[in-house]
Amino acid sequence: MRKACVAGNWKMHKTVTEAETLVQELLPGLEGISAVDNVICPPFTALDRIAGMVRGSKIELGAQNVFWEEQGAYTGEISPPMLAELVKHVIIGHSERRAYFQESDQTVNKKVQAALTAGLRPILCVGETLEEYEAGKTGQVVRRQLLAALDGVSEEGISTMMIAYEPVWAIGTGKAATPEGANRVIRDYIRDELAGLFSRKVADRIRILYGGSVKPVNAREFFEQPDIDGALVGGASLKADDFIQITQAAI
Ligand code: 13P
Repeated sequence: MRKACVAGNWKMHKTVTEAETLVQELLPGLEGISAVDNVICPPFTALDRIAGMVRGSKIELGAQNVFWEEQGAYTGEISPPMLAELVKHVIIGHSERRAYFQESDQTVNKKVQAALTAGLRPILCVGETLEEYEAGKTGQVVRRQLLAALDGVSEEGISTMMIAYEPVWAIGTGKAATPEGANRVIRDYIRDELAGLFSRKVADRIRILYGGSVKPVNAREFFEQPDIDGALVGGASLKADDFIQITQAAI
């Protein structure tokens, strides 16, 4: 049995003060829900403060990005060891980073490897664009992104990771994938690929999340799917009530 996980990607939202307020609202609502894991990924600037607030609670902390070098003259970048003191998880390969910051399958792979070396747990994002979806290339794209990102990753490494399937056309659009469609992609092009790459036993242990317009009204249908183990939530993770309701739907 895989334990469900509901993770929030806050993206570029919330000042430190605003982040504190949101976490104060989340803590009492999530604390009783022991059947579901929760991860929140605030912006870098709020991580130190929020790390102090969630210590000892059920909320785990993640970052939204990381660079692959350990240290050096890389103005503006944040290294895996810097994050490892503050967070447990790190989102890698989000489609917004691929689209706006030129991240490639190769740089995503370097980030995954560097994060694992530092003891961070990557939340690897994969997903096709609308154009790729309409051209019937979903399977091909998701498989390519997955295999490239995991090149050189050990069984021990993958066992600490989560994968998020986020079709780009469903992110922030209000047009979520169908639960059955998302489950099919996750099963055929992620879980079965993991079984081929590692083993069926390993593949059956990895948590795979769906992301893209998950809201309190539709969350449950996704969680009812056999291969969907939770959600990576964007917009709805910025409202405490919505994030708590989505977490309750995963029980
Ligand atoms: P939305 O939930 O706002 O569609 O964003 C999903 C996402 O990109 C999470 O990483």
